[in-house]
Amino acid sequence: MPRMNLQTLSLRTLLVLGLWQSGRRSLASAPELKDQPKKIAVVGAGIGGTAAAFYLRQEFGNVVKIDVFEPGDVGGRLATVKIGDYEYETGGSVIHPLNLHMKHFIEKLGIPPRKDIPSKMAIFDGKELVFEESNWFIVNFLRMLWRYGFNFLRMHMWVESVLDKFMRIYQYQQYGYSFSSVERLLHAMGGDNFLTLMNQTLEETMMGEGFSQVFINDIVAPITRVNYGQSVRISGFVGAVSLAGADSGLWAVDGGNKRVCSGLLYHSKSELIHARVTSISVKVRPSKTGNPMSFYELHYVGDSGAAHGLYDIVVIAAPLHQGKSDITFSGFSPSIPTHFPGRYHQTVSTLVHGLLNVSYLGTTESPSEFRVSDVLTTDSKGSVINSLSSVDPVHIPAGYNRPPTSEAKVWKVFSPQPLSQQQLQNMFLSYDSVSETSWLAYPAYRPPQRKTPPFILHNRLYYLSAVEWAASAMEMSAISARNVALLAHHRWHQQDAKIDQEDLHTRLRGEL
Ligand SMILES: Cc1cc2nc3c(=O)[nH]c(=O)nc-3n(C[C@H](O)[C@H](O)[C@H](O)COP(=O)(O)OP(=O)(O)OC[C@H]3O[C@@H](n4cnc5c(N)ncnc54)[C@H](O)[C@@H]3O)c2cc1C
Ligand SMILES: *[C@@H]1O[C@H](CO)[C@@H](O)[C@H](O)[C@H]1NC(C)=O
Ligand SMILES: *[C@@H]1O[C@H](CO)[C@@H](O)[C@H](O)[C@H]1NC(C)=O
Repeated sequence: MPRMNLQTLSLRTLLVLGLWQSGRRSLASAPELKDQPKKIAVVGAGIGGTAAAFYLRQEFGNVVKIDVFEPGDVGGRLATVKIGDYEYETGGSVIHPLNLHMKHFIEKLGIPPRKDIPSKMAIFDGKELVFEESNWFIVNFLRMLWRYGFNFLRMHMWVESVLDKFMRIYQYQQYGYSFSSVERLLHAMGGDNFLTLMNQTLEETMMGEGFSQVFINDIVAPITRVNYGQSVRISGFVGAVSLAGADSGLWAVDGGNKRVCSGLLYHSKSELIHARVTSISVKVRPSKTGNPMSFYELHYVGDSGAAHGLYDIVVIAAPLHQGKSDITFSGFSPSIPTHFPGRYHQTVSTLVHGLLNVSYLGTTESPSEFRVSDVLTTDSKGSVINSLSSVDPVHIPAGYNRPPTSEAKVWKVFSPQPLSQQQLQNMFLSYDSVSETSWLAYPAYRPPQRKTPPFILHNRLYYLSAVEWAASAMEMSAISARNVALLAHHRWHQQDAKIDQEDLHTRLRGEL
């Protein structure tokens, strides 16, 4: 035992020496290092932008001024609508139990998760329900085994193995490592395997892994349709994220997911500027040290008209795509486009308070017996809808019970196009309120993926939303926010050793 103590002691001494040495090195070049950025701008106050403000504050300390620009509501694609006395999620709604940043945020902000209400799933092929979950685990298991052999078990194992690698990002970020592109970030997590997942369709990937076509059509497609409004031709990576979204233990934030955004904004002590950024240009000015300094000039239009401001660092946390934002960039070489290639996929979210026509689902069960809460759909020509779910309020009041299907309640329908009056009248025996939100929801994923947009648009101009081309989810924006904050910090202080390191997984293994 004493031997071991000695060893730890010497190790610690070495560590201290090492730190002391690097401390001396920083002192030697102190004049530049002491220079902190004075002003940072974040464009967009969704979960990406507000998490970026949070992490930027963590990296750069209390003195820097952080301005967050947002013309709409804080939350972006996390939004609620009011129906009757309650609010319901219309955009991003569920969070995976292993989404550690989202979990950390609510703990830090002291917001509880929403109370869980058990759900029951069924699959609709446009004519009838081809699968209905039983309340009995063993019944489900045997049914699945009968129809799909070991495909279910194998899917679970496959998603688990992807998730295992995915989780590595948390350790890298904990140690302060950052990545200069989406490809490098993915490569650090899952090596060439993750890059291949980006370049193949989910269908190709799963066929390659030995899944049956029947299983892919019957089970996998309904999951990609409810989560991304798209078929199994999305990429293998976003496909795996989508399948993880069918795991158990999913949660949401009490009072609405968007509360995390306003909480992070408040916690980061940044200023919210209600304005739309219209253009960003680069300005070069001479500095005291003689080296010319460049600044970014943001032009924006808000309630009180047009204005502009100068910033040392800018993080864009809004997709630079057709229909999502229209920012022009000037003075940059090479030039930065207003819109990157690729488009966003439309998903219309319709919340209806009404009485469901259960015959629409081809079932002969009576409404009072019909206990299904989530109806997914297969990829068939006849399907007008992607999914139909009975939804609960963002805050579950004491004594709340989800109303039975025989009573009027709130249903959420996802569809690629707005529902016509005719379609609504067919789906519902009666309804008294309809609230429609049309989202450009997530990228239209069409592998093979051309190069994803960069995280670094210019020296100190960063693009957080590039990550959505790997997969769009709250947690992905949060991971990107932390990455961009670290990247901005390390590049400002020229700490190259914390950027794009190869083989981190093996190197950090000993440090767990
Ligand atoms: C219907 C639907 C269901 C979903 N379901 C889930 C789910 O269950 N789980 C999950 O994890 N994810 C889900 N997602 C995805 C998730 O909502 C998004 O990935 C996430 O919210 C994106 O956050 P963000 O901050 O990166 O972008 P956004 O939320 O889009 O924020 C960008 C912000 O930038 C602002 N902006 C745009 N242009 C400018 C400008 N010029 N100047 C200033 N501000 C500007 C916009 O107004 C917006 O508020 C879903 C999305 C949709 C639409
Ligand atoms: C992905 O596919 C594109 C286009 O086919 C190709 O240029 C690229 O090298 C591929 N990337 C990987 C990692 O396989
Ligand atoms: C209910 O749905 C069935 C099947 O689509 C349809 O035939 C019937 O007309 C619908 N009922 C009403 C009241 O619209």
